[in-house]
Amino acid sequence: MTQAKPIVAITNKIPDAGIKFLEAKFELKIGPTDRTLKSAELLSFVKGASAILPLLGNKIDGRVMDAAGKQLKIVANYAVGYDNIDLAAAKKRRIIITNTPGVLTEAVAEHAFALLTAVARRIVESDKFLRAGKYKSWMPELLLGPQLRGKTLGIIGLGRIGSRVAEIGALGYDMRVIYFDRGKKNRELDKKIGSEAASLRKILTASDFISLHVPLTPQTRHLIGKVELETMKKTAILINTSRGPVVNEQALAQALRHKVIWGAGLDVFEFEPRFTPALKKLDNVVMTPHTASATHEARDAMAVLAAKNIIAVLAGQAPLTEIK
Ligand code: GLV
Ligand code: GLV
Repeated sequence: MTQAKPIVAITNKIPDAGIKFLEAKFELKIGPTDRTLKSAELLSFVKGASAILPLLGNKIDGRVMDAAGKQLKIVANYAVGYDNIDLAAAKKRRIIITNTPGVLTEAVAEHAFALLTAVARRIVESDKFLRAGKYKSWMPELLLGPQLRGKTLGIIGLGRIGSRVAEIGALGYDMRVIYFDRGKKNRELDKKIGSEAASLRKILTASDFISLHVPLTPQTRHLIGKVELETMKKTAILINTSRGPVVNEQALAQALRHKVIWGAGLDVFEFEPRFTPALKKLDNVVMTPHTASATHEARDAMAVLAAKNIIAVLAGQAPLTEIK
């Protein structure tokens, strides 16, 4: 008698690059393409799974792990961040958790600059202006914004992505880079691009552009609120490609409305997929629907990495990128 193949529960359709690796070895259960499973649906969806491959929108807590059953060995998150997973609950049940670091660094760093450029050069506002038939003549002072070159870039959170943003800023735009990473220095990066560690306050007061790259933790929730926004330069641009709750979104909408800062570029929101309605009316914010890692390259590589983690763990081997 042939033994039943282990079940891998993939909560949404992921790129075929990853499916291909898994389908030969396992029985795959694949969720919808266009929506997130509700928490009650998720409980029945994972039943019997030896591996779960969830997205950020799936909260994976002890209840979900227990609903899967005792055979569950690994949760391979399709993301680098893992604030959607209860690590303590996993540890208690000896379930391995993995993420997808490295493979999306470039995509997210490029997106941070896409947002920065879009806000600084008012790309979306300009596009709307054209479409509305408002372009009547070339004017010397039409739709002005700040140059990027030579400005001070403040990075909050200097992990892989923060470091890559720092490099692009310094090497591509001759920016002076200062960073805050819980008081730590990155001497290698400092040597390479002339960056400097600074206090959070210094980042807020001295930066022309601030880009957030911290994980969401109790310490980083609302790291940027009313006071921090008021501490920034009036000409500052804030970019958030990390996690929505790192910024108090109400306070940011207020600050943008009253021009406390120049503008913001947001890929993430405090209560995704919703966002503060007041932002809709503002021209000095550019928003994308959590697509910073949405390059063909990154999304394929995330799928492959998650698949390889599952294959390794279900074969009794060490995963490639375990979160401990
Ligand atoms: C996306 O936000 C991720 O953490 O990969
Ligand atoms: C995530 O990859 C980070 O280290 O920023």
